[in-house]
Amino acid sequence: MPTYRPPKIASSEITPRQVYVRRREFLGAAALGAMALYGAGKASAAALSAVQSKYKVDDKTTPLKDVTTYNNFYEFGLDKGDPAALSGDFKPLPWTVKVDGMVNKPGTFDIEALMKEFPIEERTYRMRCVEAWSMVIPWDGFPLASLLDKVEPLGSAKYVAFETVVRPEEMPGQKGLFQSLDWPYVEGLRLDEARHPLTLLAVGLYGETLPNQNGAPIRLVVPWKYGFKGIKSIVRITLTDQQPKNTWQVTNPQEYGFYANVNPAVDHPRWSQATERRIGESGFFGASRHPTLPFNGYADEVASLYAGMELKANF
Ligand code: MTE
Repeated sequence: MPTYRPPKIASSEITPRQVYVRRREFLGAAALGAMALYGAGKASAAALSAVQSKYKVDDKTTPLKDVTTYNNFYEFGLDKGDPAALSGDFKPLPWTVKVDGMVNKPGTFDIEALMKEFPIEERTYRMRCVEAWSMVIPWDGFPLASLLDKVEPLGSAKYVAFETVVRPEEMPGQKGLFQSLDWPYVEGLRLDEARHPLTLLAVGLYGETLPNQNGAPIRLVVPWKYGFKGIKSIVRITLTDQQPKNTWQVTNPQEYGFYANVNPAVDHPRWSQATERRIGESGFFGASRHPTLPFNGYADEVASLYAGMELKANF
């Protein structure tokens, strides 16, 4: 996040419903093969049937319109409105995720098969972006641990590395002279973080299949960390014994670390992390600010993962 950019919601009057209609139109107009493909993907293009989970928060959820029009997804451009406006040609189905590295049973998994295999849960999480704004999002997904169990990590595996798809022909931010980041976008977690029950692979939000701009068809959600850890449109997950590189740390190591745990006591070099602007809430004097909580309010669940660790150094 090289600079803070103010919201540009006005640029995009696209409602999520219209996004779906547009995707449908695109597929309808495409070649016969693509139409057959849409048929295959129909089950998951419908509303998800997710079971309620114990993971809820009291905070009011962020309106769907804000969740789907105020996004960071640099593969589609730098402005917050770009992912909603420019992701209409992205084809999220069919989709497979390769899981390899230090595991007993590596494999390439079809996303729709995984959605049938693992119960989809609805979990409302507080989300905190490193840019000092936040949202409250009802995700639909399954624990990353379910997928990791399936491939049986070796005892020597210590970390999990993630990779986003590279498709310049469908992702306008990946082509052209001005390259904002090195592609693919990559991320990583320690294996115990990856296995933590809060860590989710999301395939939907608000009961709908994940919109392209939010990381279709499958993205990571780690609610106690800054939003950039939530890598979108994942194609590869690799178990390793080396700490994986993550795109923002590689881009600017002074400002972004590997851990990225939400911490109001450690400011970003260019701004305070003590409070956050809740997207979608507005008061008389503009958007209301909320105090930022250690581990984004999930300290009871996750602080023990970092016992004895110097959090200022491991930011
Ligand atoms: N994943 C990819 N592949 N590319 C990105 O640019 N941006 C990250 C993260 N995942 C990003 C990404 C950042 S900075 C944030 S805050 C969240 O996605 C935003 O997720 P949302 O748009 O669903 O709120």
